[in-house]
Amino acid sequence: MKRDLLELDELSRPELLGLLRRTAELKAMRRHGGHCFTLRGRTLAMVFEKASTRTRVSFDVAMNQLGGHAIMMAARDIQIGRGEPIADTARVLSRYVDGIMLRTYQHANVVELARCATVPVVNGLTDLAHPCQVLADLFTCQEHFPDLGALKIAYVGDGNNMANSWINAARVLGFELSLACPEGYDPHGPTFEAAREAGARLTMHRVAKDAARGAHVVNTDVWASMGQEEEQAVRAGVFAPFQVSAEVMAVARPEAIFLHCLPAHRGEEVSSEVIDGPQSRVFDQAENRLHVQKAILEWLLGGRELC
Ligand code: CP
Ligand code: NVA
Repeated sequence: MKRDLLELDELSRPELLGLLRRTAELKAMRRHGGHCFTLRGRTLAMVFEKASTRTRVSFDVAMNQLGGHAIMMAARDIQIGRGEPIADTARVLSRYVDGIMLRTYQHANVVELARCATVPVVNGLTDLAHPCQVLADLFTCQEHFPDLGALKIAYVGDGNNMANSWINAARVLGFELSLACPEGYDPHGPTFEAAREAGARLTMHRVAKDAARGAHVVNTDVWASMGQEEEQAVRAGVFAPFQVSAEVMAVARPEAIFLHCLPAHRGEEVSSEVIDGPQSRVFDQAENRLHVQKAILEWLLGGRELC
């Protein structure tokens, strides 16, 4: 049966750790100038309803470096943008390509695509989840702190797609996740509750420092995500006390790292001092999108076992 990657709770702990292990091998291979053409002759279709720099380029380069090919499609340029059903698009693309990556608004769209496609589907970000990004973030954490299960990870800011995928990562891997979000901007309730019931170690705070205290990793994201631009002014007021500043980093562990999926707004969710400072790993994190996605693509399009 084909597999998809729509959200991290679809992965078992051994599978997720297997993906990170393969990511380390692929990153090391690249560093030493090695090549690995495990997807020779394979094609990935990429459909974007929202803007993207990292996801778009890293998937494209990943396919190229693995010997395959990626086709980039803006939703507005293909028939889906004129109302062709997702189900028909799924069936047609499945006749041409070996996998489909979709960035869209409603999570239901990626679920429908996966249901109707006969090839694997990867979630390249929805309003609900951003699993590929959080896999890259976990890999970045592991580069500094090898035992992910022993970590305290803080997420400060909007309870958005990034927060939801971090919650699911905590559910699968068992690390402590402390979140600080303003009231009214909590993560997706059913995701939070399901993770808690499954034993995830989650704590919710209303003050940034309360979440960051003693953390190995402090993580944030924009206050207004793609599609929420008109709320920007209101959100700027609500979120102001949730900026990750040097004072917030000071209550984390001395060896703590700062992560942000990017793009970032300096002076809003993070101060320049922090994102451009010595604890920031945001560009390693962005690079790691490439390596982790190669592992995802080998697994889904190349049938490589994870564990
Ligand atoms: N972090 C991330 O997904 O970046 P892009 O929106 O540029 O793809
Ligand atoms: N939460 C952000 C992440 C961007 C990569 C958004 O959805 O716009």
